[in-house]
Amino acid sequence: MTANQPSPNHLQLTRDGQLRHFLTLDGLGRELLTDILDTADSFIEVGERSIKKVPLLRGRTVVNLFFESSTRTRSTFELAAKRLSADVLNLDINTSATSKGESLSDTLLNLEAMASDMFVVRHSQSGAPHFIAESVTPGVAIINAGDGRHAHPTQAMLDMLTIRQHKGRFEGLKVAIVGDVLHSRVARSQIRALNELGAAEVRVIAPGTLLPRDVEDLGCIVEYDMSRGMKDLDVVIMLRLQKERMEGALLPSEREFYRLYGLSQDKLALARPDCIVMHPGPINRGVEIESAVADGPQSVILNQVTNGIAIRMAVMSMAMGGQMAERQQKQIDSEETRG
Ligand code: CP
Repeated sequence: MTANQPSPNHLQLTRDGQLRHFLTLDGLGRELLTDILDTADSFIEVGERSIKKVPLLRGRTVVNLFFESSTRTRSTFELAAKRLSADVLNLDINTSATSKGESLSDTLLNLEAMASDMFVVRHSQSGAPHFIAESVTPGVAIINAGDGRHAHPTQAMLDMLTIRQHKGRFEGLKVAIVGDVLHSRVARSQIRALNELGAAEVRVIAPGTLLPRDVEDLGCIVEYDMSRGMKDLDVVIMLRLQKERMEGALLPSEREFYRLYGLSQDKLALARPDCIVMHPGPINRGVEIESAVADGPQSVILNQVTNGIAIRMAVMSMAMGGQMAERQQKQIDSEETRG
């Protein structure tokens, strides 16, 4: 966020600091991030029951609006909403009126007219969920499921939950994020979360062509050499090469990228012996990670997916709680004004 942009928190927090939308991690403090992790921890047990349901969103309608493809995020948001007992509508953008030219605003107005309580939005345009949150009917919560290169806050939080489960803390940890940082909304949210939660060092390891300008300003140090970058790591997070977002030739070849930056068993051996391996998915085996590493004993990639459900349950229930608290506060305020 630059000095000229307003804090996103006038939108995503209530007056007393509760979540009412979840758009970005920018401006959210350690206490709230820890609250999200603790709430998610309490939902992990729900996923281990034979009947995996709690009634927190009973009678509520959650609409999944994915304008970009997704496997993990869309499925885990749907499961999370169902485990909270919400009614869930997955709008298929390819067969919706969007394909006939209906604007995003008109699509939303129509879905709001169906008394929806929450929109989970993935969009290729950075800022789309923010734009929707600015105009949506009061009481409706907006959750960002990934917007352009800007942010993927629930992914970063499920990654933080996974790190906390395996390492027990953030203080003192050295974490590296490797690969296509330039196009990665995930990396931006992870760097923000790791710094706020107290990691000792966040490194990005990548060729200069795959790093944003002034990347250090995000709160990380840069290492161009993977062998040097792997030293002393507690956590290594690999990123997918986002070829669909690449304009021009940013890489000599995938083969060369893998030779220099792919996570092989040899390169992983340079990190601490208990270093965990993470990847938000989808993974490209042999492009950014060797299969033996992705499926190996240090990999926690599938734990990340499982934790996605608990984190999304936490964020959805907290945002709905914030919306309800705000509605009650407005009622009290208007009664006081009348009285
Ligand atoms: N990590 C992630 O966002 O994966 P999907 O694109 O499958 O949702």
